[in-house]
Amino acid sequence: ASDITPLIAGNWKMNGLQAQMNEFQALGDKLATLENRNALVAICPPATLLAAMSEKGAVSGIATGGQDCHASPNGAHTGDISALMLKDAGAAYVIVGHSERRADHAETDAQVRAKAQAGIAAGLVPIICVGETRAEREAGKADAIVAGQLEGSVPDMASEAEIVIAYEPVWAIGTGLTPTNADIAQMHAGIRRLLVERFGARGQTIRILYGGSLKPANAKEILAVENVNGGLVGGASLLANDFFAIISAA
Ligand code: G3P
Repeated sequence: ASDITPLIAGNWKMNGLQAQMNEFQALGDKLATLENRNALVAICPPATLLAAMSEKGAVSGIATGGQDCHASPNGAHTGDISALMLKDAGAAYVIVGHSERRADHAETDAQVRAKAQAGIAAGLVPIICVGETRAEREAGKADAIVAGQLEGSVPDMASEAEIVIAYEPVWAIGTGLTPTNADIAQMHAGIRRLLVERFGARGQTIRILYGGSLKPANAKEILAVENVNGGLVGGASLLANDFFAIISAA
């Protein structure tokens, strides 16, 4: 749908023991058979698998990422993980502001912005998530909610910094429901507009991923929508066959 190389990123969420590395290996094997890979590929596993996956992924051309980071580089924050640690373990990306973090940990736009900044400072590409709830969509507020999240969560940045935006309507996550292609097109166009307003021509080059029940059956059409520059995939990224099918559709 554009000249931006798409990014297909998997978010394993809180799933994956050592045994799941077999599935990762299977994905790498499948990718090796693909003649033309049109997409960048990344997986964001739980932190416990990050180092091992980064090492293996380097061989098969699969980048890795964290699922969250603290805004500080280190310090007295028991249980947290810093962007520098993710980078140190081999990550290239870090997801910030996923709706599950916003809901489970009451993360605010300001916190998400600080995390994104920490990711950039550590040399990671933050994947900044935005998206409305079902109630917000039904109330006709989806555009305003997403615009507000973008405004608050996306940091100002030096010209060489790279960010990715992921539009994940909360009601589409893990539900099998997806917006219509027209709704996705409209939302992504709106996000593009805001990025260009804020960052000028550079805003044209920022990837905007779609996330929420992306699967082999709908990947082709959704990934072809204007201003959809890849996908952020949850459930379907846990199975090598499904994730490979989505990558092949890009
Ligand atoms: O971050 C990706 C995610 O929230 C989408 O999950 O399972 O609907 O693909 P899923």
